Amino acid sequence: MAELRFDGKVVVVTGAGAGLGRAYAHLFASRGAKVVVNDLGGGRHGDGSSSKAADTVVDEIKSKGGTAVADYHSVVDGDKLIKTALDNFGRIDILINNAGILRDKSFARISDQDWDLVHAVHLKGSFKTTQAAFPIMKKQGFGRIVMTASNSGLYGNFGQANYSAAKMGLIGLAKTVAIEGARNNIHCNVIVPTAASRLTEDILPPDVFQALNPEYIAPVVAYMCHDDCEENGSVIEAAAGWAGKCTIIRANGTLLRSPESDNVSIENVKQNWSKITDITNYSLLSSIQEATGALIESLDASGTKEGTNNQDSDETDVFEYTDKDLILYALGVGTTVADPTEIKFLYEGHEEFSTLPTFFVLPALQSVMTSSTTTSAIPGKDIDLSNILHGEQYIEILSFPTGGKLVSKCKVAEVLDKGSGAAIVSDVDTFDNNGNLVIKNQIVTFAVGAGRFGGSRNGTKLVPCIQKPNRSPDLTLTQKTSLDQAAIYRLSGDRNPLHIDPNIAAVAGFEKPILHGLCSLGFSVRVILKSYADYDISLFKACKVRFTKPVVPGQTLRVDMWKEDNRIHFETVVVETNTVVITGAYVDLKSIKMSATSLKSDAIFEFIIEQVKNDPGKAKSIGGVFHYKITKDGKEVKQWTMDLKNAKVYEGAPENKPNTTLTISDEDFMLLAEGKLQPQQAFMKGKLKITGNIMLAQKLAPLLKTNAKL
Ligand SMILES: *[C@@H]1O[C@H](CO)[C@@H](O)[C@H](O)[C@H]1NC(C)=O
Ligand SMILES: *[C@@H]1O[C@H](CO)[C@@H](O)[C@H](O)[C@H]1NC(C)=O
Ligand SMILES: *[C@@H]1O[C@H](CO)[C@@H](O)[C@H](O)[C@H]1NC(C)=O
Ligand SMILES: *[C@@H]1O[C@H](CO)[C@@H](O)[C@H](O)[C@H]1NC(C)=O
Ligand SMILES: *[C@@H]1O[C@H](CO)[C@@H](O)[C@H](O)[C@H]1NC(C)=O
Ligand SMILES: *[C@@H]1O[C@H](CO)[C@@H](O)[C@H](O)[C@H]1NC(C)=O
Ligand SMILES: *[C@@H]1O[C@H](CO)[C@@H](O)[C@H](O)[C@H]1NC(C)=O
Ligand SMILES: *[C@@H]1O[C@H](CO)[C@@H](O)[C@H](O)[C@H]1NC(C)=O
Repeated sequence: MAELRFDGKVVVVTGAGAGLGRAYAHLFASRGAKVVVNDLGGGRHGDGSSSKAADTVVDEIKSKGGTAVADYHSVVDGDKLIKTALDNFGRIDILINNAGILRDKSFARISDQDWDLVHAVHLKGSFKTTQAAFPIMKKQGFGRIVMTASNSGLYGNFGQANYSAAKMGLIGLAKTVAIEGARNNIHCNVIVPTAASRLTEDILPPDVFQALNPEYIAPVVAYMCHDDCEENGSVIEAAAGWAGKCTIIRANGTLLRSPESDNVSIENVKQNWSKITDITNYSLLSSIQEATGALIESLDASGTKEGTNNQDSDETDVFEYTDKDLILYALGVGTTVADPTEIKFLYEGHEEFSTLPTFFVLPALQSVMTSSTTTSAIPGKDIDLSNILHGEQYIEILSFPTGGKLVSKCKVAEVLDKGSGAAIVSDVDTFDNNGNLVIKNQIVTFAVGAGRFGGSRNGTKLVPCIQKPNRSPDLTLTQKTSLDQAAIYRLSGDRNPLHIDPNIAAVAGFEKPILHGLCSLGFSVRVILKSYADYDISLFKACKVRFTKPVVPGQTLRVDMWKEDNRIHFETVVVETNTVVITGAYVDLKSIKMSATSLKSDAIFEFIIEQVKNDPGKAKSIGGVFHYKITKDGKEVKQWTMDLKNAKVYEGAPENKPNTTLTISDEDFMLLAEGKLQPQQAFMKGKLKITGNIMLAQKLAPLLKTNAKL
């Protein structure tokens, strides 16, 4: 077998002045690594310091042709220690946290000072050094870290309470560093050595001391740090030329709840104690997901209420809110005082204080999140809680609730087998104070990896998504989300750290915390209400969306809209990456009311309305019904009717068949009214389109002559 080498690698070994650390340093150097030999030079009890121990080891390595430098910092100054590696060798690949001190005393006699000192050296020291090395390893895409634990930690040992606690703490630290580093090829493992060392030399009998030569352990540690070694998050015990992995096992245990009730009594526990503690049958667990997953599976297998009969279980859930919650939600979905038409969502004293309809997804979400039916929706199948995604959402408002208290009932309507995962379709009915059904929600969660259970693929209860029309959008609006969008939105209830904690987001595989899907939904629906309902929330009927990709706070959302009668199809796109994040979506409105904001023609029509009112005879003398279609950026944005026969001018399409229909842009209509554009000219150039009775249109001129009065 080829010699395993460490050429080009830079290794830091803490506490390398003697014993194990010295053995590690020598071995790595002999295989081509550049070594930082750290040692405070202190005595066994961690007091005093001289540079001698580290210097001696460096000299020994150099005399054998190796490369090494000494470092005398305390591990508590981990950043300085790592800096020594960077200053001398420009990188750090391998970190062996080995430094330690002993302070044995029986538990009752440990002073705070003894406790703190031991924790400072073992636990905090390893933390500081590792934290300093981690970002460099991350950038390199390579890192190997070893922590040094002890049997005193795994099993306890008389007189070593402080030491045991610190050593076991290192195992937890290593396991989490392993999880967080895995994506960047940083592995972190633990060595549990039993070796004779400076720390133990006068505790052990001489023959035992000899058998426990550190040189038996160093190769195990070195291999754990080699490129070839895939081990990660493991605890390896080594002593006297032997090595083996330690792991956590859990007894299969027993269910304490009786089938009849959810009750567990102390007596049940006593009766079952021998089963709880019998480890004849056990599972080997290596991750928190496995631990929780296996637990859910064991619940299912034992046929609890939810496990077998979930389709019928109905749970109720109370949701209370005040105007503050409504305002916070509005801010969370991008409402701003910068737009005067949005103040009514942000100010409870506003005479038209309004609730964004999508606020009412919140009681449903709360209901589903607290329900036990979701995780046990597939009989005989455990659902990995860390792998659930919000897939689709439907909300329908039957009547806007007025009170601040709602009660929701949640049930799993159906579970679809999508192969790669399971789609859990939950229906949530929300009732007002008087028990009237006011809101219906349907939440589809997608459980990754829970598919292939033999279920049907197509739903019968699922509210389907609908394809957008096959043409370019009728209307498009963009708005940038704020960097704080998720930070604000989460205060409305979904406090999943994925949306705010960069570390959690990284573990979940995202570069940055992501925006809540329901926040992008609220954002988009708000834009549609602004465009097609003039923010008249009473026009909202229902909405359906499918979430396809996450949004990062700070990105710009573009909502593309297609109007088909009272249904507005839409798609939401992240402008920066041109990624579609919401698809198959629509909002159903009771009727359309185009936003009145910023149309120049509005003022002209207001003027015409005044004129007609002042002189109805003149209007009637022209006669006929004129239908105006006003466009902006090529899209129709508003309609007006001039029913001169009855001297009535109003917004919207005519009630009766018009004699003449005119289509013109907002800008050109303004120019026309100002006399800067001649109607014939506009018509010839195609700026004014007329259908129906063209001759009749010519009679309109005097009515449109507004000149400088605007
Ligand atoms: C732990 O505390 C005891 C009692 O205070 C002390 O004597 C002993 O040295 C400490 N252990 C270590 C490893 O420092
Ligand atoms: C450690 O890294 C390996 C290989 O990169 C990976 O398969 C494993 O999941 C990681 N372990 C943990 C606990 O993250
Ligand atoms: C549990 O059982 C006790 C005794 O039978 C009973 O008093 C109590 O109400 C039960 N609790 C629940 C939550 O069922
Ligand atoms: C364990 O607890 C269950 C539920 O209370 C009970 O029915 C059963 O008898 C107990 N098992 C034993 C072995 O006592
Ligand atoms: C362990 O599993 C075996 C085989 O299923 C079973 O016979 C035995 O009763 C189990 N022991 C315990 C303590 O559960
Ligand atoms: C114990 O649990 C493990 C993991 O769930 C399972 O593989 C094993 O079959 C169980 N053993 C018995 C006897 O139930
Ligand atoms: C059911 O799903 C399959 C596969 O996706 C599809 O081909 C089929 O048309 C669907 N059937 C119905 C009735 O929707
Ligand atoms: C407008 O059309 C109606 C029929 O739709 C017709 O009766 C009426 O005479 C027309 N008005 C003018 C002014 O042409």
